[in-house]
Amino acid sequence: MEADEKGRLIVVSNRLPLVLNAQEDGTWDARASSGGLISALVPVLRRRGGVWIGWPGTTDATLEEVLPALAAVGEAYGCSFRPVMLTQQEMEGFYFGFSNEVIWPLFHDLFTNCNFQPEYWQVYQDVNRKFAAAVADVLRPGDFLWVHDYHLMDLAAELRRMGRPVHAGFFLHTPFPPLEIFLRLPWRFEILRDLLEFDPIGFQTLRDRRNFLQCVKVLFNVQVKGTGSVVRVQVPPSLSHDGASARQVCAGVFPIGIDFAAAADMAASPEVRARARELKDDIRGRQMILGIDRLDYTKGLPNKLQAFRAALHRYPELHHKVNLVQHVVPSRKEIPDYQQLRLELEHLIGQINGEFTESGWVPIHYMFHNLGSVDLSAYYLAADIALVTSLKDGMNLVAKEYCAAQVDQGGVLILSEFAGAAAQLQRGALLVNPYDIDGVASAIHRAFCMPEKERSERMRLLRRTVRSEDVYRWADAFLGVTSERGAAAVPYPEDYLPSAKP
Ligand code: G6P
Repeated sequence: MEADEKGRLIVVSNRLPLVLNAQEDGTWDARASSGGLISALVPVLRRRGGVWIGWPGTTDATLEEVLPALAAVGEAYGCSFRPVMLTQQEMEGFYFGFSNEVIWPLFHDLFTNCNFQPEYWQVYQDVNRKFAAAVADVLRPGDFLWVHDYHLMDLAAELRRMGRPVHAGFFLHTPFPPLEIFLRLPWRFEILRDLLEFDPIGFQTLRDRRNFLQCVKVLFNVQVKGTGSVVRVQVPPSLSHDGASARQVCAGVFPIGIDFAAAADMAASPEVRARARELKDDIRGRQMILGIDRLDYTKGLPNKLQAFRAALHRYPELHHKVNLVQHVVPSRKEIPDYQQLRLELEHLIGQINGEFTESGWVPIHYMFHNLGSVDLSAYYLAADIALVTSLKDGMNLVAKEYCAAQVDQGGVLILSEFAGAAAQLQRGALLVNPYDIDGVASAIHRAFCMPEKERSERMRLLRRTVRSEDVYRWADAFLGVTSERGAAAVPYPEDYLPSAKP
């Protein structure tokens, strides 16, 4: 790690990277959740000292119950986790409401899914203040605060308003929308003004940063200096803290990666290999088209199913030769749009299976559940094709996890051009427009027919990118901007733009 080693690091995310479970004896147990973020940041926390602050992911446990569980997991990891407890009312206004019924759909360009309730904004600010108070409790001079994602865009501003200013950076894991969409937000000035309290502000892709810069230029008339992975935004005196002097904040492009080595090692383990063989046997040597998506309307699940149906109509040679194995991971189940989506999907899957099932072959295998880590890795290893059709996605780590687990290099990745990952993976993946049902259907057919040589050449390219731009490099690049050394060289690719040629 080449980051600034001087100050402690305080990481803040809405959700702690932990899963809490009630034990039979009434106590609670906490384990690290799978995912690259914790793997990348815990070593930094261990070395620099610091703490990870966030909501423990349940409203069922009390603070007294949560604290010993977090202390135990913190001890095991050599760092410290600190909970911010949220009441039911805060969950409704802040998490389900403002974060997931306003910002989430808006930032994914789906503003017709937005529910702009004025009360949500009030609770969002209150909860950001609550997180700020938790940070203020542990803050020491010289600490660097790293805030993650759209739930906590006001955090640095709240700390300053509280009289506890801190050097804080922000990374947005989701996309940032284009100006004409962002302008619909009733609190557009407040959110942008508060985001400008962070330095650096990090985005997944050039597209997201371009959108952000356009918004700050239009709404605040800022100047932007520089080019490359990190540019400087001149914040005008009207937005400065003393009302007189201009400030500069960096805006960078840092595409997040995964822990490639861990994912590849896991896929190559005897346990995962054995499980992958079982999964292949289950579908009797047919090609497995794999989908793994959180239940979310941004993932383009109905489009994926319609494309699969179109492929079965257009290419009868696929019958009995492929299975779409679609895992849907439960998510945000209190929000009506998510409940509605589940019904829609299950209806569609029923229709397609009803239309095409024949003796010995059910085309879609659908599971609505959380996958364990061995099964997840085994599905990735076993799948001949991975199908990602997000309508818009910050990055899409499923695409990267699939590549990392393809240790035998025989799989084909079909990837939405609107996923952040498309910018980095455009050379090896088959990129598709998820709204183009026939286009996705023909990509499915092309992947099905793809010769082994082409498959392995493409997968080798994909794996090389995912390996070199892993989550450790991502953390180094972001933290490097905060050090005296200046920005680390971050390879950020140009956006994917479809060519006009057929
Ligand atoms: C996206 C967001 C994350 C969020 C995750 C799961 O990836 O960028 O911040 O944690 O979805 O959503 P949830 O609402 O369950 O935390």
